[in-house]
Amino acid sequence: MNKQRYTVTAALPYANGPLHLGHIAGVYLPADIFVRFLKMKGHDVVFICGSDEHGAAITLRAKKEGITPKEIVDKYHQIISDSFQRFGIQFDIYHRTSSEIHHHTAQNIFLKLLENNHFTVEKSQQFYDEDYKQFLADRYVTGECPKCSNPNAYGDQCEKCGSDLSPDELIHPLSTLSGKTPVLKETSHWYLPMQRHEQWLRKWILNGELDGVKIHDPKSWRNQVIGQCMSWIDGGLHSRAMTRDLEWGVRVPLENSEGKVLYVWLDAPIGYISATKQWAKDNNKNWEDYWIKQNNSENPNLIHFIGKDNIVFHAIIFPIILKAHGDFVLPKNVPASEFLNLEGDKFSTSRSWAVWLHEYIEKYPEKTDELKYTLTSISPETKDSEFTWKDYQSKVNNELLSILGNFVNRVTVLCQKYTGGKIPLLHSSSAEIEKVFEEIHKFPLQIETLLYQYKFRDAQAEVMNLARLGNKFLAETEPWKKAKTSPLEVESILYVSLQITAVLGQLLEPFLPNTAQKLRNLFKQDLFAWDDIIENAKPISGHKLADLPLLFNRIEDEMVQLEVDKLLRTKETLNTKIEMKKNITFDDFSQLDLRLATIIEAEKVPNAEKLIQLTLTVSGMKKTVVSGIAQYYSPQECIGKKVLMLLNLEPKKIKGIVSKGMILMAEDKNGTLSFISSEKEMEEGSIIR
Ligand code: 2FM
Ligand code: ZN
Repeated sequence: MNKQRYTVTAALPYANGPLHLGHIAGVYLPADIFVRFLKMKGHDVVFICGSDEHGAAITLRAKKEGITPKEIVDKYHQIISDSFQRFGIQFDIYHRTSSEIHHHTAQNIFLKLLENNHFTVEKSQQFYDEDYKQFLADRYVTGECPKCSNPNAYGDQCEKCGSDLSPDELIHPLSTLSGKTPVLKETSHWYLPMQRHEQWLRKWILNGELDGVKIHDPKSWRNQVIGQCMSWIDGGLHSRAMTRDLEWGVRVPLENSEGKVLYVWLDAPIGYISATKQWAKDNNKNWEDYWIKQNNSENPNLIHFIGKDNIVFHAIIFPIILKAHGDFVLPKNVPASEFLNLEGDKFSTSRSWAVWLHEYIEKYPEKTDELKYTLTSISPETKDSEFTWKDYQSKVNNELLSILGNFVNRVTVLCQKYTGGKIPLLHSSSAEIEKVFEEIHKFPLQIETLLYQYKFRDAQAEVMNLARLGNKFLAETEPWKKAKTSPLEVESILYVSLQITAVLGQLLEPFLPNTAQKLRNLFKQDLFAWDDIIENAKPISGHKLADLPLLFNRIEDEMVQLEVDKLLRTKETLNTKIEMKKNITFDDFSQLDLRLATIIEAEKVPNAEKLIQLTLTVSGMKKTVVSGIAQYYSPQECIGKKVLMLLNLEPKKIKGIVSKGMILMAEDKNGTLSFISSEKEMEEGSIIR
């Protein structure tokens, strides 16, 4: 068999928040299926991923949480890598772009491009926040999207319509630091003139041709990838800044470039290379075998699994960098997915409209294959698709349980009943049995063909067809009716059914590895090379079957309801908007003299329905306050209460009484008022701050 080398990458998640099912269905699960399959085929594969730890997405999140960027990336790197591991996404390395090896690698590639004259230095006017004395890169500016009028578009992208933007395109731009309108100020950056690369890019994308050599079949690329690239190229490529004025990131490795770092989209894909270097170092391999063009034309196959919002970076900008550098191979394919929606709406990290992977695993640690199965069967390969809990329930109950679980269960129960749990002999081979064997033999190649075409949904459906074949075979041969009359025929039927089960234990490995392992345990069989499955995955007559653990639990309505209710609660919270007042400074706040005060006298104000005249003591000092609380408290109820008081409010005459200060009350949406008191018993006069 033709063994090849594969470098498979999955988009480096920003370490600024947890992963949701949309990320998993579109990128990480298909990549994992592909890699497990390639490894079974015997290819030499490295599977790369890690945290993308730079860029404004990280620094802004850190600012929001009031912690440092380093604390943010450390926290989410841990959460994300743990959940990948528990979910069974088996990267060979889960690296970090904050590592030293990455900083060096990215800087060296920058320098090589500079040396080869692939950058121009250009001066430009960029937004600058005068209060914070900082340039506002990408997401540091928000404003109205010029394409769809979304008022909250970012300086690099509008999340509503998906347009790529530059900060100066925004209508009414605002700084996310001070909230003020930024000014324009001159700065200089290193630009990548992408227009210089247009010609070869066209040939490479449309014909799979590079330097006159056909290096891939463009028909194997998804239409949406070619479509997006060509619309970029046809729209005209421009120079794009490859550096930013920021403190957080990979420093520009040149003198007089303080305060400048590499653009995150230059640095992140280089993260794939630096991760490979680290993995090679740890495993006694040569990283260059996985990235560098080889003389003998046995080039490694570089495959990038990504979501559609990353297409231009992986199919245009990164290939330009790789080619401009000179030594690297270009991606052989970029199987980008479309988006997964959730219960009728887009997944959104910022609006918390999501099912988080780490929460799912925490709640349902035994149900990873159930989730993998559902996500692969709705994988948004060529168009957007949708996850609903109802559909998850139906896929688990009506497919995994009723088709796969039911078949394997029936076979093992029948074996217990008729052969005492021993693998029987295949006594005779009827035409019916011959036909079934013939069909079983076709499965590995059919599934392989689909997997090489990145058709993961169809490939998984094909494995399920093998279980369906098993059910059909049992239903047609009805061994339970033949036990008395033809016991040898029953044994042969059971043998064939066990053969199907054993093959399932191999073919399911890329998709449902836990279930596959349980099936292999039944026969005490190892995982075999893909090409040897038919030869090796044979039940051995006379051997005893091991016990079969329960494969899948039925998903009850209660679980679905619980999860849907949780999402609905999120929606309610999202729809309740608090009208916030304008920000005040700490100085403004500290001018308020707030104290605990005790009400010692209270009486109704004559001819004023709502008013009560209160006398309070604050550290022994007496104060008179007129308060509009008569609808909610009687004078008697007020006496003795220790309440929150604003002491230094300007005195005001109300109904002829001079009110000196104000009692602070909580008011609900119906206008009901309540005194506020301290949670612990505190001395009268205590300061509130
Ligand atoms: O879109 C994202 O989440 C990016 N962090 C993906 C980076 S992929 C690669 F370039 F590293
Ligand atoms: Zn828009």
